[in-house]
Amino acid sequence: MAQDRASWQIKDEATLLELVALMNLSPDEAALLKDLEGEARERGPALTRTFYDRLFAHPNTAEYLQGVSMDRLHGMVQEWFAGLFCGQYDEAYARRRMVIGQIHVKIGLPVRYPIAMLDVVMPFGEQVARTSHAPDAAVAAFRKVLALDVAIFNQAYEDNQLQHLAELVGGERLARRLLTGA
Ligand code: HEM
Repeated sequence: MAQDRASWQIKDEATLLELVALMNLSPDEAALLKDLEGEARERGPALTRTFYDRLFAHPNTAEYLQGVSMDRLHGMVQEWFAGLFCGQYDEAYARRRMVIGQIHVKIGLPVRYPIAMLDVVMPFGEQVARTSHAPDAAVAAFRKVLALDVAIFNQAYEDNQLQHLAELVGGERLARRLLTGA
């Protein structure tokens, strides 16, 4: 059986603060990204066109978009993209990003689809970062913030599974041990 791990005690917003520390996201990097927020907003519409073209081209992902207001979704994903450049990666930011993950959990969307969409998000973000006065540092900072977002999005899925399993087996510690497959 796996031993207990300190990371098992980290919950909710604390996961972001832990990851910010793990990834050494510095105040200078946050400031570099903040300078690019306007540029990110300008490129948002092009990003979401490519994003939803991709999702509509594949029947298994298009199915989730039937009957959904696409105007609203374009706006929300543009806001999400601009948010990567907000410059303040604190608990409130973590909570907002976690809720977005939870919304996808609730629609029964397999996590592989949002993760695969990084293929669209990454180049747009890097294009924005390349307009910085310090392009290499801005690209590196953007990659960190995007990795943080993926980690939080994924955490929403894991938390949900863990919570249900814990309810079923009568405790989180046992649930975590079961999930090790040992
Ligand atoms: C990088 C990946 C993704 C990001 C950043 C993203 C972002 C968002 C955001 C910001 C919202 C609005 C949440 C809110 O109401 O506050 C949303 C909603 C939604 N997303 Fe995504 N999304 C991603 C991937 C996907 C994929 C792959 C699908 C489907 C194939 C999808 C389907 C939906 C649907 C159906 C909603 C509306 C849910 C509802 O209001 O009931 N998303 N997404």
